[in-house]
Amino acid sequence: MRNRLLVVLAVPLALLMAVGVVRSVLAEPAADTPPKPPLGLPAVQWPDDNPYTAAKSELGRFLYFDKRISSDNTLSCASCHETEKAFTDSSPFSTGIGGKKGGRGAPTVINRAYSTQQFWDGRAGSLEEQAKGPIANPIEMTADKTADEAHEAVARRLRALPGYVQQFDKVFGPKSVTIDNVAKAIATFERTVYSGNAPYDKYNSGDTKAMSEAAVRGMNVFFNKAACDACHIGFNFTDGSYVNIGIGMDKSQPDLGRFDVSKKDEDKGAFKTPTLREIVQTAPYMHDGRFKTLEEVIEHYDKGGIKNPQLDERMKPLNLSKQDKSDLVEFLKALSGEGWQDKKSPKEFPK
Ligand code: HEC
Ligand code: HEC
Repeated sequence: MRNRLLVVLAVPLALLMAVGVVRSVLAEPAADTPPKPPLGLPAVQWPDDNPYTAAKSELGRFLYFDKRISSDNTLSCASCHETEKAFTDSSPFSTGIGGKKGGRGAPTVINRAYSTQQFWDGRAGSLEEQAKGPIANPIEMTADKTADEAHEAVARRLRALPGYVQQFDKVFGPKSVTIDNVAKAIATFERTVYSGNAPYDKYNSGDTKAMSEAAVRGMNVFFNKAACDACHIGFNFTDGSYVNIGIGMDKSQPDLGRFDVSKKDEDKGAFKTPTLREIVQTAPYMHDGRFKTLEEVIEHYDKGGIKNPQLDERMKPLNLSKQDKSDLVEFLKALSGEGWQDKKSPKEFPK
C-alpha cells in the first residue's frame, strides 16, 4: 500500500522535474534586474513574455545599429533614429531604402518604454510589433515583396552569421534566430533608452537652482495660461491620446492619422501627443515636420491651431505675450536630460 502511494507520488514528481529540466534548457534564462531609469521617470513595466535580460538588451543593441537588417545593407534602425540626434533624424520625412520617402517624420525612440501603442497613429500595439514594421516596409528597409518574405530574409541573413547565432543561443535557446526574437531583442534595447534627470526633474525634486528664472516662468505659462498640459501631461509630457491640432488638415489630401486605425470620424487628422522630453534636439516638429523651431510651434498654439471640422476644442487662441513665448521656450529647454547619450552603436558587429 505504502509502495503504491510512493509510486503514485513519484511518477508525477519525476515528470514535473523532467519538464523543469527541459524548460530550463529551452527557455530564456531568468530575468536580470533591469536598469533603473533616471530621476523623474518611474520603473518600466517589462512585459511578461519579454522580460529584461542584460544579454538580450545587448543583442538588441547590435541589431538596432546593424545595417544588415535592411535588404540592401544600407539602413539600420539608427539611420532614422540616430543617437546623436536624440534618436530622430532631423528631417521632416525620413529617407528609406533606395532614397524613398514616406509622409511622416521619425519620432524619437527615447522613453518609448512607457507606452504600448507605437507610431503617430498608434497602429502597433507594442514595441515588439513595431520593430517588425520597418523591416517589412518597402519604403523603409526592404526590397522584398511581402512582409513574410522580408522577415524570413532577415532571419536567414542572421542565421548565416555564427556570431549572431551564438548570441541568440545564449539569450533565447537553440535554433532561436527568428523574426519574433529579433523584435524581442530590439524592443528590450529600446526599453533601456531614457531621458530623465533634466533640470526640470531636479527642480521638481527640490533643487530650486536647477532651472533659470525664465524657465520657471515658462513652466507657469506651460501649466497655466497656455495649458499645454491638457495633453502634454505627466512624467513623459504626454497622456498618449490622439488629438487633432490641425496639422496637415490644410493640405488638399490630408494624412488622416488615427482615423485610418480607428475609422471614427472624430479621429480624422488626429495624431499621437508626443513626449516633449529632449524637444530642443528633435526638430523639425510635428508628424509632417513643418516647424523648424520651437518658436514656430508656439505661434501655432498661440493662434489656436489650424481650423478644421475635427479641431480639438481645447485648441483656442492663447494671447501669449512675447515674454510668455520666450519663457516657454526656456522651459522646454529644461526638459533635456540624460539616459540615452550612452546608447551608441557597437564598434564591430557579429560575423
Ligand atoms: C527609413 C527610416 C526609418 C527606419 C529605417 C526605421 N524607422 Fe522607426 N520610424 C520612422 C518613421 C517615419 C516613423 C513614424 C511612422 C508613422 O508613425 O507612421 C517611425 C516610428 C518608429 C517608432 C514609434 C515611435 C512612437 O513615438 O510611436 C519606433 C519605436 C521606431 N520607429 C523604432 C524603429 C526601429 C526599432 C527600427 C529598426 C527595426 C526603425 N524604427 C527603423 C522611420 C524609420
Ligand atoms: C489639445 C492637445 C494639445 C495641447 C493643448 C498642446 N499640444 Fe502639443 N501636441 C499635441 C499633438 C497631438 C501633437 C502632434 C501633432 C501632429 O504632429 O500632428 C503635438 C506636438 C507638439 C510638439 C512637437 C513635438 C514633436 O516631436 O514633433 C511640441 C513642441 C508641442 N506639441 C508643444 C506644445 C506646447 C508648448 C503646448 C502649449 C502651448 C502644447 N503643445 C499644447 C497635442 C497638444
